[in-house]
Amino acid sequence: MGAVTLKIDDKEVKAKEGMTVLEAALSAGIAIPTLCHHEKLKPYTACRICTVEIEKKGRINLDTACSCPVEDNLVVRTKSENVINIRRTILELMLAHAPDAPVLQALTTEYGADKNRFGKEPSFCILCGLCVRYCAEIKKKNAVTFVDRGTTREIVFVPEIASKECDSCKECFSLCPTSALQSAFVLAEAFAFPQISQASAADK
Ligand code: SF4
Ligand code: FES
Repeated sequence: MGAVTLKIDDKEVKAKEGMTVLEAALSAGIAIPTLCHHEKLKPYTACRICTVEIEKKGRINLDTACSCPVEDNLVVRTKSENVINIRRTILELMLAHAPDAPVLQALTTEYGADKNRFGKEPSFCILCGLCVRYCAEIKKKNAVTFVDRGTTREIVFVPEIASKECDSCKECFSLCPTSALQSAFVLAEAFAFPQISQASAADK
């Protein structure tokens, strides 16, 4: 695999062909926030919080660092005013859905976001897809999935699969940046497969 040289925040960075801008930045000690990225999963570009400015042959575009491949002579700006403003707005939109999520709270302080800019409509899920993709791509079980589209999109556990697989796994729980996944599981366990819920309570 060939080597490429790019510039990230005025720092010359050497990277391998096939790496993403995010991976190149991390290798150079340059932090870029992420909410839907996981090193074992394919890029999904749902959250857009990793947006950076990419200058290529004199043209400047915005792109997601977690999916954008490195190229020779790219110029990347991770902290321009434009980038900071975009990240702040993305955060403010997510805070309407998951106002108490610690990971969003930390970024809110860093980016000076207004927690109340958009009216609260707590679904507690920011649709990052980490749980769904981890279960599908790593565990190959599809016990949790998305339903609906647009504003009614949400995650649900598939009772027939979840009742057999989830109790001994729960590996996706720690990936969830909000409390949405755990709450959805407790509800599914109580309503959709209560026999499992009761059996595990009896074992305790
Ligand atoms: S439940 Fe959590 S991990 Fe799953 S999509 Fe929603 S925020 Fe992401
Ligand atoms: S981390 Fe890149 S789009 Fe979510």
